[in-house]
Amino acid sequence: MKLRTADEYQRLANRRLPPFIAEYVNGGSYAEHTLRRNVEDLRTIELRQRVLNDVSNVDTSTKLFGRDCGMPLGLGPIGISGMLARRGEVQAARAAEQAHVPFCLSTVSICSIEEVRAAVKEPIWFQLYVIRDRACMTDLIDRAEAAGCSALVFTVDMPVPGIRYRDFRSGMSGISGWRMHLARYGQAVRRPRWSLDVGLRGRPHRLGNLVKVLGANSGLGDYVGWLGRNFDPSVTWRDMEWVRSRWKGPLIIKGILDVEDARAAADVGVDGIVVSNHGGRQFDGVRSTARALPGIADAVGSRLTVLADGGVRTGLDVLRMVALGAHGVLLGRAWAYALAAGGGPYVANMLDTMKRELAAAMAMAGRTRIANIDRTVLDR
Ligand code: GLV
Repeated sequence: MKLRTADEYQRLANRRLPPFIAEYVNGGSYAEHTLRRNVEDLRTIELRQRVLNDVSNVDTSTKLFGRDCGMPLGLGPIGISGMLARRGEVQAARAAEQAHVPFCLSTVSICSIEEVRAAVKEPIWFQLYVIRDRACMTDLIDRAEAAGCSALVFTVDMPVPGIRYRDFRSGMSGISGWRMHLARYGQAVRRPRWSLDVGLRGRPHRLGNLVKVLGANSGLGDYVGWLGRNFDPSVTWRDMEWVRSRWKGPLIIKGILDVEDARAAADVGVDGIVVSNHGGRQFDGVRSTARALPGIADAVGSRLTVLADGGVRTGLDVLRMVALGAHGVLLGRAWAYALAAGGGPYVANMLDTMKRELAAAMAMAGRTRIANIDRTVLDR
């Protein structure tokens, strides 16, 4: 298959998706400074070229939470990714399995935990939001356990949804009823491939994990508004203790950007954290994850598995994040664009490309094992 860059996948995705979905994926909050910095700060980190080190046998594999992975990365949770391609979460989970990397299903996915789990042999990870309805949360944790999910990723950086102007311009947020249907329908008819693949053949369009709470209401009408109304801003570290007592497997907090919070996470007994600013979709103006990661890794990297996301578009970026102190990274938009561009085969292709890029970069940095990547890889 053709070697494609993340920019190419993004262009293809934008051509295929109706604007209200494309803008939702592309966009960040407020003026999108943090979104841009995630990408820029990471890709401008300089690396040291090292030579004559016998790099004939480069191995990109590693272990994350006790499981073998083909490379130090996983597909991070993305809401409504089943609107990017037909039953999109299933397609992406299969691609991840093929590449031997974990797939993390979002609470607000189109396909349910059970649908995705039935489509793959390896266990998936499940991401949980703090929902006001605690019975619903308990139910989700139980379902994740029953489906054999191998890690629970608890997202904490969305006490309220970020202010996202693009969604208001595109018809994703702020309108309802016939106006919303008209706006979205008008966009969909100009994207016939998407309309056939996802609009028609990708049904049902509803938040698969939340059918019990939502009943006939699919949750997709005013999706971001729904998130705002149903997420619980009153959450504290005490609730974290509750989740810890309920979930016995690996527990990961996603959305840590501050050293003090990283220490608190370690104290509450989680197994890992994701250094994340939600892809620049939440609190614009906070630092990029590439800048936040080193301090956090120094503070808790020996006690916790530290993952990082934000701006990772290539295998080189994976090398950079690992050099900055991450044990692994989560991809977000990188896989969303590939999925929207051409479904599961494109996600598989993107993962294969990342592995090749990572292996080549390791060779040129003079490292043959993930465990040997540290800050001396960086030119500082
Ligand atoms: C949900 O997680 C979002 O970023 O929209």
